[in-house]
This record gives sequence, C-alpha cells and structure tokens, in this order.
Amino acid sequence: MPKLGSKRSPVKSMADDLSTMAAALALLAIIPSQVMAQVLRSYEIVGDAIPQPLTGIRGDPVRGRAIVVDRQRGLCLLCHAGPFPEQRFQGNLAPELTGVGTRWSEGQLRLKIVDSRQLNPATIMPPYYNMDGLVRVGRNWQDKPVLSAEEVEDVVAFLKTLTETP
Ligand code: HEC
Repeated sequence: MPKLGSKRSPVKSMADDLSTMAAALALLAIIPSQVMAQVLRSYEIVGDAIPQPLTGIRGDPVRGRAIVVDRQRGLCLLCHAGPFPEQRFQGNLAPELTGVGTRWSEGQLRLKIVDSRQLNPATIMPPYYNMDGLVRVGRNWQDKPVLSAEEVEDVVAFLKTLTETP
C-alpha cells in the first residue's frame, strides 16, 4: 500500500504557492513607495503654500523660463498663455501666466507646480513633483516626477518675475 501521508498534499502546496505569490505581490507594492521616497524630497505644506524651496535654495528664472516654454519638459503652454511673444501656439484652457508673480506668493506658486490637486482635486493641471495616484503614465515619466526639485525651483523663480499686469 502506498503511503499517502508522505506525499505533499496538492491542496497544501497550492496554498504554499499562493502565499509565496502573495508575499511577492506585497513586496512589489512596497517597492514604488520606496523608490519615490528616494527620489522625492520631503516638503511641508503650510496652508495653500510650500513656503521653503524644495532644494533649500531659490532657482534660476532664466532656466525656469526655458522649462515653461519647452514642449517636452514643462508643457505649460499647452494650457496657459503668457508673455512669450516668440511662442506661436499658446493654450487657453487655464489662466494667463502674465502677472502670476503678483497674484501669488512664491510658496503658493510652488505648491501649484508641485501638486495643484492639493488645492483643487478636480484640476487638469498635472502634478509636476508628485507621482501619487497617476495612472497610465508614459514610460519616460514612470517612477520619477515630471520635473526635478531643481527644475521646480527654476520654474517658481521665473513665475515670480511675471509681475506685469495683463
Ligand atoms: C493640462 C493643462 C495645464 C498644464 C499643462 C499646466 N497648467 Fe497650470 N493651470 C491649469 C489650470 C486649469 C489652472 C487653473 C486652476 C486649477 O484648475 O487648478 C492652472 C493654474 C496655474 C497657475 C495659477 C494661475 C492663476 O493665476 O490662478 C499657475 C501659476 C500655473 N498654473 C502654472 C503652470 C506652469 C508653470 C505649468 C508648467 C510647468 C503649468 N501651469 C501647466 C492647467 C494647466
């Protein structure tokens, strides 16, 4: 008579496989948040603003302007228009950027760039420095924010120079 007891029960081995799989899946779920913690600097939101620069120092407005008009990096002119006479195509889905440096404080502008959803959950403006809750992210944009912390600071520094009245 074969000794059945010595054989691994198929049910038990399936349960083992499942628990291994579950562990692997749990691990996968943890990885993105670890990657994010490494990539993103922490920042403090106070009211409707991020008062302190993400990098500890203010950015460069000349580099910031280049990012804003760049159709690969900032893409701002897809939705916004502003004082960019050399740019032929400018958007009309969002408020004019002309004068934003007067309308908003530096910290308010920083939070709008970092993650406008914190201010308006229904906004169509993309979060430039937050990857939470994004779906169908293009391969080039996966696992990193759209702009680096330095680039966010450059953009904020540039927006602060837009003090002319529209
Ligand atoms: C897909 C469209 C879209 C893109 C791209 C976009 N924005 Fe916006 N933005 C909006 C909308 C819409 C608002 C209006 C407020 C809201 O809905 O949150 C806004 C608001 C703003 C405001 C506040 C304006 C005001 O006077 O109230 C600033 C500043 C701003 N965006 C800057 C930028 C910059 C800089 C970029 C590029 C780095 C950018 N936005 C990219 C849609 C966009």
